[in-house]
Amino acid sequence: MLAVIGGTGLTEMAGLEVLKRHSSETPLGAASAGVIHGSLNDRELLFLARHGHPHKLPPHRVNYRANLWALKQAGATHVVGINAVGSIDPALGSGALVVPDQLIDYTHDREATYFDGRFKPLKHIDFSWPYSECLRAEIARAAVICGEQLIEGGVYGCTQGPRLETAAEIARMARDGCSLVGMTGMPEAVLARELSLDYACLALVVNPAAGVVEGEITMAEIEQALVGGIERVKRLIAALLKNEAAPQE
Ligand code: HPA
Repeated sequence: MLAVIGGTGLTEMAGLEVLKRHSSETPLGAASAGVIHGSLNDRELLFLARHGHPHKLPPHRVNYRANLWALKQAGATHVVGINAVGSIDPALGSGALVVPDQLIDYTHDREATYFDGRFKPLKHIDFSWPYSECLRAEIARAAVICGEQLIEGGVYGCTQGPRLETAAEIARMARDGCSLVGMTGMPEAVLARELSLDYACLALVVNPAAGVVEGEITMAEIEQALVGGIERVKRLIAALLKNEAAPQE
């Protein structure tokens, strides 16, 4: 079953008919919220608000291990993580929708594995290509069907937050090859891989990253970009669900 992890601006899926609300408790502590098992246009969907509902958890305090565990327990096989991001590549304006194909992790001190000797025996999983190619292709197909422009490919740099970056940090990330910057893409992606979940990131650009254009980054500009952008994300998710080839099991 397809699951969506809603990020900033997406704490609930309007139109989702609730079939069941799962408990947020897991063996790894509490997930950000209970997973909602719902129906959208007669297709089943799992939904989890990454920051809680209402939005309360900053990126570094999210219990990513509990979140992915809760989704797996609820029956998820495929997970789309929705992420608001800043653009490092000046070609990506606010409002751009991107499905990155690579990531670089700049976070620290987050619980980033199930292979800690308690939950799973140690395994060094392959993470060469961190996102599911199959799910990325499904998202791209859904974008064509619903007429949304989608940029395929890009490198998501995940920073610790909650502060935004310095211009020098963004310049370094650009040299590293990052095109996007966000705070929540990791360890979500690797934990999904450890649980054998097909995972893809759908990123919505809400601001040019620090130093990419002149001036400060304001919450007002981010919020403005989120308003219209999240509606387009929802349309895309609805199309992904409707698409016959979309994973239902
Ligand atoms: N940096 C990090 N995370 C973000 C940004 C940013 O500029 N915009 C939205 N999430």
